[in-house]
Amino acid sequence: MEKYLVTSALPYANGRLHIGHVAGAYLPADIFVRFQKLIGNEALYICGTDEHGTPVALKAEAEGTTPQAIVQRYHDSIKASFEGLNFCFDNFSGTSRPQHRELSQKFFLNLYERGYITQHTIKQHFCPVENIFLADRYVEGVCPHCGAAGARGDQCDACGKLIDAITLANPACKLCGAAPEVRETTHWYIDLPKFEPDLRAWLETKSAWKDNVLNFILSWLDQGLKERSITRDISWGVPVPLPDAEGKVLYVWFDAPIGYISSTIEWAEQRGEPDSWKDYWLDPQTKLVHFIGKDNIPFHTIIWPAVLMKQDDDYILPHDVPANEYLNLEGQKISTSRDWAIWVEEYLKYFDGDLLRYVLAVNAPETRDSDFSWSDFQARVNSELANVLGNLANRVFAFAAKFFDSGISRPDQLDAEAQTTLDTATAICNEVRLSYQGYRVRRAVGLIMDIARLGNKYFDETAPWKSVKTEPELAGQTLYVCAELLRIISIVFNPVLPHKMQVLRNMLSMVSAVSWERIHEPCTHYQIQDVEPLFPKIDDAAIEEQTRLLIEQSKVAVERRKAAEEAVREKAAAQACKDELAAQAHKDESAEQTQFKAEIEYDDFARLDLRVVEVLTAERVQKSKKLLRLEVKCGAEQRQVVAGLAKHYTPEQLIGRKVLMLANLKPRKLMGLESQGMILAAEDDSGLAVLLPERDVPDGSSVE
Ligand code: MF3
Ligand code: ZN
Repeated sequence: MEKYLVTSALPYANGRLHIGHVAGAYLPADIFVRFQKLIGNEALYICGTDEHGTPVALKAEAEGTTPQAIVQRYHDSIKASFEGLNFCFDNFSGTSRPQHRELSQKFFLNLYERGYITQHTIKQHFCPVENIFLADRYVEGVCPHCGAAGARGDQCDACGKLIDAITLANPACKLCGAAPEVRETTHWYIDLPKFEPDLRAWLETKSAWKDNVLNFILSWLDQGLKERSITRDISWGVPVPLPDAEGKVLYVWFDAPIGYISSTIEWAEQRGEPDSWKDYWLDPQTKLVHFIGKDNIPFHTIIWPAVLMKQDDDYILPHDVPANEYLNLEGQKISTSRDWAIWVEEYLKYFDGDLLRYVLAVNAPETRDSDFSWSDFQARVNSELANVLGNLANRVFAFAAKFFDSGISRPDQLDAEAQTTLDTATAICNEVRLSYQGYRVRRAVGLIMDIARLGNKYFDETAPWKSVKTEPELAGQTLYVCAELLRIISIVFNPVLPHKMQVLRNMLSMVSAVSWERIHEPCTHYQIQDVEPLFPKIDDAAIEEQTRLLIEQSKVAVERRKAAEEAVREKAAAQACKDELAAQAHKDESAEQTQFKAEIEYDDFARLDLRVVEVLTAERVQKSKKLLRLEVKCGAEQRQVVAGLAKHYTPEQLIGRKVLMLANLKPRKLMGLESQGMILAAEDDSGLAVLLPERDVPDGSSVE
């Protein structure tokens, strides 16, 4: 027997669950777990909500409530959505629970004490309006690589390159619209380069992983691993457990995967065996399988294993990380901001959970992005589930009721065609098993529907409505073979359609627990009961209604978003206006209150040698608009001074005047001429006015 520990990426507790989530990281996992249990393996399915991070904090602030209240709302909503879709989690926890916080701190400290964490002071954008450091995706600007406007702080959609937010030109804060400040802040980093040899060695054993996952990892490794910051400057999160880390929390991506463990510990406690989580996480026999969406690949295959490698306990590392691609909706990317999404909560108001499971399984984005559309949903339900599988059940049960009192018994002997039909079905089951095991749900579903098609074909070919009149045993054989096929289907389809198959088994009066092995244990007698249509058809009106709702809700959201963006622009404009007024006020103030240079000592002043000098000659300096060359007399000495007075005085205006000069300024060259002093002048808006002694004093007199 094998032992699996299966996880689905913890959904963020900042929004509801939509079908894109379900198709990527959840339904494939639920199917896998149900399959493992079905074939007799042990499987524990662990999940919970990812509850930290900036979006939760911002939402709480916007609504005037606490982050915990936001988290609770979405945790409950997401959990209810999963229940409506018949999920079989063994535990569904949340990462803001105290136990999780403690465990996350322990994980951080283990890395820290072993020297796998470094500390750096960096420059980061800061929004003075919201008073927070801005995560990269909250800053937008001009891409430093390609010059495109509207590049996000983490990546440019125009050229696809990764960006260091601080290098964006014209950065703008997405929260308030204004230009953010650049401030210094200190953070802690996981020293990934140190892990590279261990990670490479480990990843080399993983050649069986899905191609999309391996390719992603290789490109990461080839670019060279870099230190990654694992702390943030926000208040909502797990506090960094270091003395000098006031106000810092662990990055949500550091603590979230630890939630897989804390949720398992919670499960163990709730069942009254608090140590039993170790049977999974610390037992090298356990196969740990993380189901995720493709955007989560680096975190689960590089950073998370690195974190697990250097703990006190010997945690197992991921056995497999079957990441899926994305599901689109009606040919467009699912977008929560445009409300282009089908919310599970809404879906469940109209349709059965298993129907969505089926359609998402058929369209699973296993190797490439796939699409959900309402018309395809209707077609799959009506022409596959209803017309193929539902029809088989219907016609067999109706026929049995009409001619056999709803009893179907195994004939003493099966003819060749009957036997071949059953053998074909069991052979298909082996293929189904391999498909489930290899995460190929689409293929598994297709094969199972082939069994139902086989049943319909057999029913048609043996035409029991004819034989029943002449050879009722033959008609009975047809019914028996078809009932056997339905029984087999009710087992192998259980992972995909757990509720519907339960209903089917009940109609077939199968009471024992469902298990794969029973495929090979033919039933001797069926007493058909509680018959109801398994898959009622969905009419056009219901689908039109859903299509209309989708378009409507998206329109509303787009308009609301435009209004919100407009509000941000207005807020930014108001802020800019306020800033300008403040600057103006500041200027006015400085006009009234004279600004002086810093205070000096008398000695500083005494070092200046100021003298009265007489201008003997003056002439313009060639090619200069500003400079005059003066010869001045200072007592016994004569000096050449180059002064910037040409715009304010003609040479004639100065010749013969006595002016003041700084005499001990180190000589310097201006336009090739040495200036051996500096003439003093007062300055106002209209220019310079040279200073003159108030009465005639001899040149060379000192100025005190
Ligand atoms: N909340 C993340 C997302 O939705 C996934 C977290 S997975 C975990 O993308 F491993 F970190 F829990
Ligand atoms: Zn801002």
